[in-house]
Amino acid sequence: MATFRHICDSVAVITLSNPPVNALSSALIQALQKALGEAIRDSAVEAIVICGDKGKFCAGADIREFNKPSQKRGPHLLLLTDLIESNKKPVVAAIEGVALGGGLELALGCHYRVAHVQARVGLPEVLLGILPAASGTQRLPRLIGIAAALTLITTGKYVPAREALKLGIVDKVVGENTVDEAIRLAKKVIGQPLGSRQLSTLPVQCPPNVEALLAEAMVKVKKQFRGAQSPQACIEAVRAAVHLPYTEGIKKEQELYQFLNATHEPRAQQYAFFAEREVAKWTLPSGASWKTVSPQPIHTAAVIGLGTMGRGIVTSLAKAKIPVVALEQDKRQLDIGSKAVMSLLDREILKMEQLGHTEATNSLGPVRFTLDYDELKDVDIVIEAVFENMALKKDIFRRLSVVCKPEAFLCTNTSGLNIDEIASVTNRPQMVIGTHFFSPAHIMKLLEVVRGCYTSSTTISTAMRLAKMLGKIGVLVGNCPSFVGNRLMRLYVEQAVFLVEEGSKPEEIDLALEDFGLAMGPFRMMDLAGLDIGWKARTEIGLTGPKLPIGTPARQRGSKRYSPLPDILCEQGRFGQKSGQGWYKYEKSGGRNAMPDPWLYNFLSEYRCIHNLKTRNITQEEVIERCLYILINQGFKVLEEGIASDPKDIDVIYNNGYGWPKHTGGPMYYASLVGLPVVLTKLEKYYEDNPDILDLKPSNFLKKLVASGTPPLKEWRSHLGSQSSKL
Ligand code: 3HC
Ligand code: NAI
Repeated sequence: MATFRHICDSVAVITLSNPPVNALSSALIQALQKALGEAIRDSAVEAIVICGDKGKFCAGADIREFNKPSQKRGPHLLLLTDLIESNKKPVVAAIEGVALGGGLELALGCHYRVAHVQARVGLPEVLLGILPAASGTQRLPRLIGIAAALTLITTGKYVPAREALKLGIVDKVVGENTVDEAIRLAKKVIGQPLGSRQLSTLPVQCPPNVEALLAEAMVKVKKQFRGAQSPQACIEAVRAAVHLPYTEGIKKEQELYQFLNATHEPRAQQYAFFAEREVAKWTLPSGASWKTVSPQPIHTAAVIGLGTMGRGIVTSLAKAKIPVVALEQDKRQLDIGSKAVMSLLDREILKMEQLGHTEATNSLGPVRFTLDYDELKDVDIVIEAVFENMALKKDIFRRLSVVCKPEAFLCTNTSGLNIDEIASVTNRPQMVIGTHFFSPAHIMKLLEVVRGCYTSSTTISTAMRLAKMLGKIGVLVGNCPSFVGNRLMRLYVEQAVFLVEEGSKPEEIDLALEDFGLAMGPFRMMDLAGLDIGWKARTEIGLTGPKLPIGTPARQRGSKRYSPLPDILCEQGRFGQKSGQGWYKYEKSGGRNAMPDPWLYNFLSEYRCIHNLKTRNITQEEVIERCLYILINQGFKVLEEGIASDPKDIDVIYNNGYGWPKHTGGPMYYASLVGLPVVLTKLEKYYEDNPDILDLKPSNFLKKLVASGTPPLKEWRSHLGSQSSKL
């Protein structure tokens, strides 16, 4: 756990060891306390170095222990940091890999910090719904000032070693032998006064405008993390560092920690943290799994189509140092696409340089642009990202079958077309899979990996490995129209449009859902994505436009309610931001500043008159319930149909692809928080009021769970029949 050995008679080296990330479990804290006690008592020891085993200093408190009752958690890290700091022998932290959360707080208790150049430090507690509760909110502001500390503590950002040096968090950065360097430093400072190195004793350097700074930070976090309490508590704790002596500040830190812990947020965020890691551990009903099926190596890749998605996918591959061949349909598109890719790559290089990478250019994989399919003959994997058109995609996959080597995997970035239909035209349907990236593809963390009925487990394993190589979270789902994410999203957006027909304003709906915590309301989102995309898709399948049978009622398709509102906006040239008007108006075409549009109000009045729709007052509560519960209901249907194998898959998709607020855990976790019987009763009521909105009809699986006494979320899976799985 924590071992102690002597070096050159005078420096004791204590090594933290708790694989894989040396998290501070109660046992490790206890062992560290013991090792420190021995070193302090040993008269032969004049200085101490604390380091981490296997090149990782420490990733903070052991999150797996958070749900243990506090009295069973053993000695508190906070006391340990005070013990270290007050020790007369100098203590140096040798930081390799990471010093995060409690790991950084431990290092801040030390008198000196030496970091390896590739190490990262940070206080990510806010991302787990808590705050740094082992003096981080009190020591860090004393070390680096209020403004920088506020940024780190409220964003949870990880800071690379060179930036940490500039900020003053670490004293020295080395390229190698971090522990040796820490020992050298420890020896050098033996006998020197430690007063200025004891952070708890230092005054906080406050700028004259400190209150304005705190207020500004509060406004920022309220906007950025709507509905979440931990960022605000972090600011309150830093405010305490400004106004109170250290010991009082610590009391406030503890109080705020207890307050947060009594809310649902820490549990929700910690669930989201582990869910993101667990989705990588896929299993098929056949028994094949991430443990038993090896991925094939991917040394080279190709991307077809360099539009919005393709250019991001190329950039993502290049960032992962995978050489890419990028193919377009003609010279003009190739020129446009290649310029766009080069500009994205330049931006990546700039970002890396700002973070202190000296060889940023060399850290990207090479990209070759071409119009020639022959250049694809040796690549290990191809990702197709051309227009969303089945005939075109099939054409391309037929061609890939001929050109690519037999071992090459063929992936499609389709956002909802049938993977099996695409696979069926190839000579290797078992090697075809959906890799559904999210826009912008070089930034968004989510990759929906869509298994078709022919897809082999090796192909799944390789696609999931690709996600990891790209630094993304791959979630394995089954093949159905629009897969998981977009299938649920479509109903949510549709519900929002129905609410507008019934009397809401787009901005009221957006506000209600943004206050709930969603990154962007449905109308702002539609305007950003472009209303024409959905319009084209609906026209193609005959929901609107020339293929719509004559005599179809305007607000009905089959037995379902339909709103033609988005189609009419498109017919009027209102495509959203790109055309300067959509659900909102913008300062210009391509503008981003959404403003309520009086034109729309008049238009809506006329529309409601034509369709004989009576408006009514719609509460925020109804907006949230109808939009979110219909999405959640579809989540239960997706589970029932075996399209997703576990509720956490849906939650990870929503948290990482659709801006769902992590402090509520994700849609399915949120349903469990609200209570399944409540969700069911509300759905029943809304369905009764709106019998033509068929998707409000509660799913059988939801009803089954309620009838079984509402088991906790982790047991839902066991209530699903295994034969239903589409994985
Ligand atoms: N506690 C327990 N387990 C942890 C952990 C932690 N703090 N951090 C990571 N792990 C586990 C992961 O769950 C995963 O387990 P698995 O292999 O069984 O799935 C394993 O360690 C490896 O983690 P990753 O898959 O994330 O590996 P990476 O190499 O991609 O990333 C990391 C490593 C950068 C350390 C990343 O795991 C991370 O960011 N961890 C969270 C760190 C954090 O939030 N620390 C703050 C804790 S709260 C705290 O310290 C409170 C204090 O103020 C008192
Ligand atoms: P886009 O219209 O921006 O780009 C498509 C590109 O494909 C164009 O550059 C076009 O020249 C090229 N192309 C067309 N035919 C080609 C051919 N025969 N050979 C080579 N290149 C060809 O489209 P976008 O938005 O990038 O979408 C691509 C795919 O990704 C679609 O299937 C879409 O549904 C999917 N998708 C889109 C998302 C988005 O937010 N835009 C999100 C996730 C998936």
